[in-house]
Amino acid sequence: MIKGVRKLKRNMSGERQDLVFGSRPSAIDEVVEAVNKRLEELLPESGSTPQLRNAMAYSLLAPGKRLRPLLTIFSSMHFGFRDLTALDVACAIEMIHTASLVMDDLPSMDNAMLRRGRPASHRKFGQDVALLTSVALLNQAYAVIAADHRLSTDTRTGLMQLLTDAVGADGLIGGQLLDLKSEPVSDMEVSRINGLKTAALFVASAEAGAVVAGVSGEPRQIFRKFALELGVAFQLADDLLDDAEYAGHTGKDTSKDVDKQTLVTSLGRDGARKQLQNHLDVARKHLASTGSGDARLSSILEYGFARFT
Ligand code: IPE
Ligand code: IPE
Ligand code: MG
Ligand code: MG
Ligand code: MG
Repeated sequence: MIKGVRKLKRNMSGERQDLVFGSRPSAIDEVVEAVNKRLEELLPESGSTPQLRNAMAYSLLAPGKRLRPLLTIFSSMHFGFRDLTALDVACAIEMIHTASLVMDDLPSMDNAMLRRGRPASHRKFGQDVALLTSVALLNQAYAVIAADHRLSTDTRTGLMQLLTDAVGADGLIGGQLLDLKSEPVSDMEVSRINGLKTAALFVASAEAGAVVAGVSGEPRQIFRKFALELGVAFQLADDLLDDAEYAGHTGKDTSKDVDKQTLVTSLGRDGARKQLQNHLDVARKHLASTGSGDARLSSILEYGFARFT
């Protein structure tokens, strides 16, 4: 059973600094705090498998940046919500994202050691449990949306469609599959893969805020375009952060991509930085075209791309 939403507590500790990821202005801090708290409540009861709940909590409650929930909540706020109506939807998206990270780290995928500053799930619990943890997180995400009675049935169905499209063959899963290919591909193909494996969930995160707010048409389209630029820029930033220079500062392994084709290997670090800037510029233009600019959504750019803005 999913427990009720508690009141959001204001964080009085002020801005937090991080070497790689930016300071967190108070609007971001408040939402991150609310998301972290709610994620814990939205984990399934342990039932007969406390080991599974424990492994889910280990990855989900580890310190992620919570960029996708921020996009969902700030997007719903952009469309008129002042409260955290989109909180459970945002948490569901964070579960999907965490599921993708647990799977991405498996020895048969990227074979990563570290995630969110902790040993990767399979190193802590074993590959068998990690695989089940990933599927369980994905499953719980959809359960959370199905159970969100603050939303109408139509809205919940719309969100399910949005998210299963973003995660499916023409989204994250398809992108991850194409990413495994070892033969050389064009830069355009690498961009397309980044669009699928990473940007698709960014787009769905921003769009989810519009769905919760019942917004369609042109305003929703602008948000899609904004988040697509952000998502593609984010994978470029992530590839730049794979450099050994950032070892110990990203909470995950570095130099994982040395034998891999990324836009950093083909464009060079300066070229990749330039392309990242271009995507962020276009993202800002899309945001400006909404008329209001939106300081909250702009602050995600400073927070998520601190090294590159
Ligand atoms: C990492 O995402 C995976 C990519 C899509 C590049 P984040 O950098 O958002 O990971 P967390 O959530 O902060 O751990
Ligand atoms: C993975 O990209 C994107 C996902 C969908 C998980 P990466 O493999 O580069 O992400 P990190 O660097 O391991 O976080
Ligand atoms: Mg990967
Ligand atoms: Mg990886
Ligand atoms: Mg990476």
